[in-house]
Amino acid sequence: MGSFANTKDLGSAQLTIQGTTIDLPLFEGSENEKAIDIRALRKETGAITYDPGFVNTGCCLSDITYIDGEKGILRYRGYDINELAEHCEFIDVAYLLIHGKLPDDEQHNQFSRHLNSHSLLHEDMRHFFDAYPDHAHPMATLSAMAVSLSTFYPELEDVSIQENIDYKVTRLLSKLRTAAAFSYKKSIGHPIVYPKRSLKYCENFLNMMFWTPVNDYDVDPVLAKALNKLLILHADHEQNCSASVVKMVGSAGANLYASIAAGICALWGPLHGGANQHVIEMLQRILSDDGGDVKRVIERSKDKNDPFRLMGVGHRVYKSYDPRAKVAKQMCKDVLARTGTTDPLLDLALQLEEAVLADDYFVSRGLYPNIDFYTGLTYRAMGIPTNMFTVMFAIGRMPGWIAQWLEMREDPDGRIGRPRQIYTGPVQRSVK
Ligand code: ACO
Repeated sequence: MGSFANTKDLGSAQLTIQGTTIDLPLFEGSENEKAIDIRALRKETGAITYDPGFVNTGCCLSDITYIDGEKGILRYRGYDINELAEHCEFIDVAYLLIHGKLPDDEQHNQFSRHLNSHSLLHEDMRHFFDAYPDHAHPMATLSAMAVSLSTFYPELEDVSIQENIDYKVTRLLSKLRTAAAFSYKKSIGHPIVYPKRSLKYCENFLNMMFWTPVNDYDVDPVLAKALNKLLILHADHEQNCSASVVKMVGSAGANLYASIAAGICALWGPLHGGANQHVIEMLQRILSDDGGDVKRVIERSKDKNDPFRLMGVGHRVYKSYDPRAKVAKQMCKDVLARTGTTDPLLDLALQLEEAVLADDYFVSRGLYPNIDFYTGLTYRAMGIPTNMFTVMFAIGRMPGWIAQWLEMREDPDGRIGRPRQIYTGPVQRSVK
């Protein structure tokens, strides 16, 4: 849990409002990020801050994830994302985010066993899938399944968080992965494939996605490794839109499953995790409608009268190359080499990236490829369909949401999330 004990006191900042000056505490975190503590602002001056999109607003102290958007640094609990992606399995990183330290061998094996023993969905939940239309977007199904877990395991609400958190965490991580694979099978009209105890987390998912009664499926270790890496890249990103939604819902006292269901909906948005699906659809349209004309597409994205934006480019925090995009780009090439295929969309993406990096419009605004630019291409190379891309992101992001939610619930300064506003509507008037 984030703590003022790990911050440095920098004195105070003075603010003068209409002749009244107040002192506001100034402090910095362990990576020297500075903050002004404005908690007394309204009480002492009557004024509030105005910050649409919370661009300058820190909502908590956190020990989980550190990002330096200017230098392109991302660390979970102090470990660099590249190192974690190279050396760890996804479940180790999930454990790290939630428990604050990497598991030793025994903890790893126990967590893995735990995930396997909670991997089955209640059979009644399985029948939910029959009620959704075949074309249902799997993100809608996934969110419904997340909140449905609270109807199947309501007894967990009655005991303290510490006593039951391991059950909640493993149920979410394991059952939602199973639900994601079921929603895919349902969408293509195939029989669902149950999870297998003998398989590890990522292998199990691939098997549930691709095994059929007519085509046996042997999990390719290279693809399993790639999936582990992709999920690690997605695993947390501090106070992003969906994590903030998870925390906002949780701050009202709602249960973890309900909070995660809300986070899944937020992630679905095209400006957030939904961008990975939109990147592929954009690349396909550029090839089919624009004949692969990169120059025209770049000009359109710069035209303020055209609502078109380059999907997978730009980020609220990164003003240099997203370190996750670097790893994903290489993985995409590796997976294509493994499957022995080529993808014209990758060639197009590489051309687009080159044009973006050479164009002053993008460079001057700090717009670079983000994680979604290459992850969709990698999922596609693995045979995962486009409408499942954001679901993959959600499975990866699950441990981050859980860790952020837990930290929020333990925060002694935590209060219900409730921003204010400046009212600009009509002043009091009468209907008569
Ligand atoms: N294409 C063209 N121009 C862009 C793009 C883009 N993809 N992204 C930002 N800009 C421009 C804006 O028009 C604006 O220009 P201006 O200063 O001349 O008005 C400037 O760059 C700043 O953009 P904002 O929208 O103010 O930046 P914000 O931080 O609010 O938005 C966002 C960040 C939503 C990611 C934005 O860059 C975007 O829409 N990108 C495309 C969607 C995307 O890839 N989303 C996934 C992000 S990663 C994630 O959530 C997992």
